[in-house]
Amino acid sequence: MVKKNACIFISGKGSNLKNLIGRSRDYNFPISVKLVVSDKRKALGILYAKKNSIPFLLINTKSRNYENKLLEYLKKYKISLICLAGYMKILSKKFLRDYGKKVINIHPSLLPKFKGLNTFYKVLKNKEKKTGCTVHYVDEKLDNGKIISQRSFYIDSTDNEEILKNKTQKLEYLAFPESIIKIFRKN
Ligand code: GRF
Repeated sequence: MVKKNACIFISGKGSNLKNLIGRSRDYNFPISVKLVVSDKRKALGILYAKKNSIPFLLINTKSRNYENKLLEYLKKYKISLICLAGYMKILSKKFLRDYGKKVINIHPSLLPKFKGLNTFYKVLKNKEKKTGCTVHYVDEKLDNGKIISQRSFYIDSTDNEEILKNKTQKLEYLAFPESIIKIFRKN
């Protein structure tokens, strides 16, 4: 199968990056991870890029033209899908327009509920019965674009923020790959 080139953006641990790199080894999985971008020099996830000999780019989001530099790299590596996997910055409307291809994000709640940070605290405070994760297209608003897929579970009375996070992440490792399969099956 001819795979699409993907770039994964991270800011931290990179467990979704690790999972996507693993999945992309499957012959039938539609993407190959060709580039990793991090806005944090110390992001642990960079290790997975190194271990797998995937080029990575550190960006300084404080520099004025960083999005242009990013666009150059995306072009150089012929990237046709960007996956935001724990990337903590917002991409500008101009960047999204100039890039012009698919950008998706994973968020640890059942959107449109609980956009932004401190998701698990908000879920518990709101006494939700269920929670989960969402993969969605990215637009210029935070955690906002069209939903591609969601996975959910019922919350136990003993679940705390840490437990919710672990349970949610397990579902993320399913939801992200299945969304990518769904995207490329459609087109
Ligand atoms: C995930 O929980 C994702 O939903 C959120 O950031 C976290 C990233 O985790 N956007 P990791 O860096 O992939 O381990």
